[in-house]
Amino acid sequence: MDVVIAPDEQIGEIVADDIAALIAARPDAVLGLATGSSPLRIYDAVAERVARKQLSLARARGFMLDEYVGLPPGHPCRYSTVIDEDFVSRVDFAPGAVRGPDGDAADLTAACTDYEESIGEAGGVDLQILGIGTDGHIAFNEPGSSLASRTRVKTLTAQTRADNARFFGGDIDAVPRHCVTQGLGTIMDARRIVLVATGDAKAEAIAHLVEGPVSARWPATVLQHHRRVTVLVDDAAASRLELADYYRHAHAHRHLVS
Ligand code: F6R
Repeated sequence: MDVVIAPDEQIGEIVADDIAALIAARPDAVLGLATGSSPLRIYDAVAERVARKQLSLARARGFMLDEYVGLPPGHPCRYSTVIDEDFVSRVDFAPGAVRGPDGDAADLTAACTDYEESIGEAGGVDLQILGIGTDGHIAFNEPGSSLASRTRVKTLTAQTRADNARFFGGDIDAVPRHCVTQGLGTIMDARRIVLVATGDAKAEAIAHLVEGPVSARWPATVLQHHRRVTVLVDDAAASRLELADYYRHAHAHRHLVS
């Protein structure tokens, strides 16, 4: 696991560099897209490069991590609407190139199976962007999630619903109780993973993710078993890391393989 502690202003550009390098090597790469506040700095940086014609996602594809259950297409808080506004409509993906799980399907189990199959048919995710919940979730894999789980329906914790009430006008009762989410096993299949976290509220979850024991209690800890993970955090999110000085040192003196 690479831990990179960087100023918030640099985080978007660092990940945009990674995405640009991937697309240069493989124009039809598959990106894994998180929703929420954390990836916005990445989407802004990528959108700027696309606007300046330095980067094109015209042949790339994207898969979202998760979706609320019961929000119809077009609902302003439905994640497919949010990712469209935050990212897809600002870049040059081909129509239909970005898919998400259908949280409004009549048969949610079938929709989950269908989603897993569509990721497989696309050849799997090359670069997965992740945020992390204050309770340690990635995607919506809440504490207690099986470390081998696949896409399925989950019940959100009270903490996640409270954290996300800001997207629902502050009304926690408007936040759905259920979601459809890629499983931890699904996420672990991505060839590369970049997790972004900023601010004090994420410090405890980041400390568990990087330095805690692997446990379903803090689901993000499963990433310790992935071979290519970068955790990108600002000083505040890194503030509870015991080995923060070492991570800074290791990054400043990283060995660049030729
Ligand atoms: C969203 C997702 C979640 C968020 C997490 C952090 O698709 O998968 O795991 O990444 O809840 O959300 P923010 O970034 O809004 O703090």
